Amino acid sequence: MKYTTALIGCGRISFKHIEGFIDNAEQLQLIAICDTVQSRSEEKAAEYKKKFPDADISIFTDYRELLSKKKPDIVTIATESGNHAVIAVDCLKAGCHVILEKPMALSIEDADKIILTAKKNNKKLGVCFQNRFNAPVQRLRAALEAERFGKILHGMVQIRWNRNDAYYAEAPWRGTWAHDGGTLMNQCTHGIDLLQWMMGEDAVRAQAQTRRFTRPIEAEDFGAAIIEFKSGAVGIIEGTANVYPKNLNETLSIFGDKGTVVIGGLAVNKIETWRFSDAEVLGDTEDKVLDPNEKDPPTVYGFGHSALFKDFINSIKNNTQPLICGERGKKALELILAIYKSQKTGKPVNLPCKFSTLNMRGHFA
Ligand SMILES: NC(=O)c1ccc[n+]([C@@H]2O[C@H](COP(=O)([O-])OP(=O)(O)OC[C@H]3O[C@@H](n4cnc5c(N)ncnc54)[C@H](O)[C@@H]3O)[C@@H](O)[C@H]2O)c1
Repeated sequence: MKYTTALIGCGRISFKHIEGFIDNAEQLQLIAICDTVQSRSEEKAAEYKKKFPDADISIFTDYRELLSKKKPDIVTIATESGNHAVIAVDCLKAGCHVILEKPMALSIEDADKIILTAKKNNKKLGVCFQNRFNAPVQRLRAALEAERFGKILHGMVQIRWNRNDAYYAEAPWRGTWAHDGGTLMNQCTHGIDLLQWMMGEDAVRAQAQTRRFTRPIEAEDFGAAIIEFKSGAVGIIEGTANVYPKNLNETLSIFGDKGTVVIGGLAVNKIETWRFSDAEVLGDTEDKVLDPNEKDPPTVYGFGHSALFKDFINSIKNNTQPLICGERGKKALELILAIYKSQKTGKPVNLPCKFSTLNMRGHFA
């Protein structure tokens, strides 16, 4: 049996959703696409039809009409972040499982509303932190689950990318408080999710400095934060959209008293350091693990969407949670909002905190 599937939002990232549908075509049947700009949906349908020329795909400019006329089993949402919550809630109420682009929402209230609606309607909810499926990241996670790091002491994520003026001009919602947030909420949320995933997810305190150095946007184009985790371990976040003249690296480093791993490359896709006290015994010394010929993916979006879609399909079939369910998607959002609050107040912020006071639309404008 195939799950009927629809895509809402056909901009920059949507090609990865089309790829995800194609790579999972044994289990997914793309039946509808929606964008308020019709030509964008048509373009995506054409991309899909290069592989499946006979596909019957309906095009919509109003997603509510799509929901009522096509009733897809699964909807993937790739619209601007500021309207994720409204669209996701409508899809879940219409009886669809939902894969939602990151960040899942821009406020805790909205994230909670989406999570609750999924629960009430007994539908699966997944968030696109696709880098969790990068092979090196999965390998790191397996080492962590096998407790090879000993005690985790500290971890660091560096997202040193370039988003130029043309990128912001292409879609006016980018960099606004109402619909996006800054580089931490948009580009760096992946790395922040990975850091939290490796450090145990429970951040208890955040202290931060953010800046808008050069980019023509409302929100920050640089952020630095020190995070304390429940275990006592410390996390460091460095994120920027200002790197001259192009994307440099996204690097995740985890330091334990028995292990050190650094995953770098353009988007956490290459193992750069792999050292464990039990490496000789387990046969994965660094010289065996490092691959000097490993290449960066063609874009910083990597290859994770297809694997994430597969995991999501399995979660429906087996009635389990997808790897990045709503509650997990919310963790990165919470931490980034705490970072924004720390910048605003000039003080460390304890977590969990009262996020109802933290509405990006008003509080930070
Ligand atoms: N997972 C990733 O690596 C990744 C990468 C880039 C962007 N994103 C996320 O994906 C989302 C989209 O980003 P983008 O850069 O592709 O944006 P974009 O502006 O390029 O595309 C968004 C599209 O959504 C359409 N749209 C807006 N409101 C709509 C509505 N109500 N109904 C139907 N269509 C609507 C717009 O017309 C536009 O074509 C954002 O949340 C962003 O953070 C994720």
